[in-house]
Amino acid sequence: MIKNFTSKVAGLGKYVPEKIVTNDDLSRLMDTSHDWIVERTGIKERRFIDKNSDEGTASMGVKAAEQALERAGISKDDVDLIVFATLSPDYYFPGSGVLVQDLMGIGTCPALDVRNQCSGFIYALSVADQYIRTGTYKNVLVIGSEYQSGGLDLTTRGRTVSVIFGDGAGAAVLTRHDNLDEGIRSSHLHSEGKHAEELAILGPTTKKWVHELFEDYDPDDKDYHPYMNGQLVFKNAVVRFSEVIHEALAKNGMTPSDIDMLIPHQANLRIAQFVQKKFGLSDKQVYNNIMRYGNTTAASIPIALCEAWEEGLINKGDNVVLAAFGSGFTWGSSLIKWV
Ligand code: UT7
Repeated sequence: MIKNFTSKVAGLGKYVPEKIVTNDDLSRLMDTSHDWIVERTGIKERRFIDKNSDEGTASMGVKAAEQALERAGISKDDVDLIVFATLSPDYYFPGSGVLVQDLMGIGTCPALDVRNQCSGFIYALSVADQYIRTGTYKNVLVIGSEYQSGGLDLTTRGRTVSVIFGDGAGAAVLTRHDNLDEGIRSSHLHSEGKHAEELAILGPTTKKWVHELFEDYDPDDKDYHPYMNGQLVFKNAVVRFSEVIHEALAKNGMTPSDIDMLIPHQANLRIAQFVQKKFGLSDKQVYNNIMRYGNTTAASIPIALCEAWEEGLINKGDNVVLAAFGSGFTWGSSLIKWV
């Protein structure tokens, strides 16, 4: 007989680099201002990896993962699968999941990377959840980590993109749970590839392969820095965020008043505030920390979820909704009855 399971979040962890970069710091590098950045994005500061340090995407993920495992009371030897979400992997290949495995001294469990940018953590969580539901695995380590600062164009030309992003990592340990009314109730995933190049970094690619990059590398080539059609992304984000949160509520027979905590991907405070208003949510029902970290892409939801939990804002029985939109375009939501 096939037994059905659900999955619960057993532990959360986060790690951000020590180096704080304020809006005034950025103003010294490009034509921008603290007031512009706060007014348009809500961001006051973000963390950047110190380029002289050994830190990277995988190693930040390890720090977040170790904290999550410790809080879950689960040994690294009991991890059955690693799912690693990032848009800034340490290498073009292999993925950062196997690097985490090596750095943590985890044996030969499978490790896979999810490449869904801002929605990466929601996609990764859903992958982990599916393996647990089917009884294939019991404990899955889900990590979102980003080292973005090294690739940003920190001149006036790149200011629209560069003032938004930051570095950091978050992790969750997902564990098998028997009560089907609790844990991850549903995940909802979408993508629309026709907008793939509206928020992207286009080089190096298989069309402009790595050896070509070194032969005629031009630091001024815009392809080597992230590109974002900010207004198109913004317009799509507010619509898709709303749709996918509505989808999660409808699937579970809930209304916005049933949400105890909404953790939106921290893309722009104005997007989160628009969604909050649209669903008529109070400040207590929504958690934002973009002011402190900027947009950490696949790491933003696990960092925010971890902080909300640390602050005692998420408790047993709460309905927690995670929602994201970003490059791809991809978007998704997850509704969790907290255990
Ligand atoms: O996480 C992935 C998903 N990403 C997102 O969801 C981001 C979505 N987009 C956004 O958040 C916004 O589009 C931005 C924050 C990126 C930009 O805000 P905006 O209100 O859409 O600004 P804009 O691009 O329309 O630019 C308005 C003005 C322009 O000047 P003019 O043409 O009006 O004279 C820009 O040149 O602001 C200028 N500008 C800046 N000024 C100071 C653009 N970037 C900056 C800057 N500092 N950093």
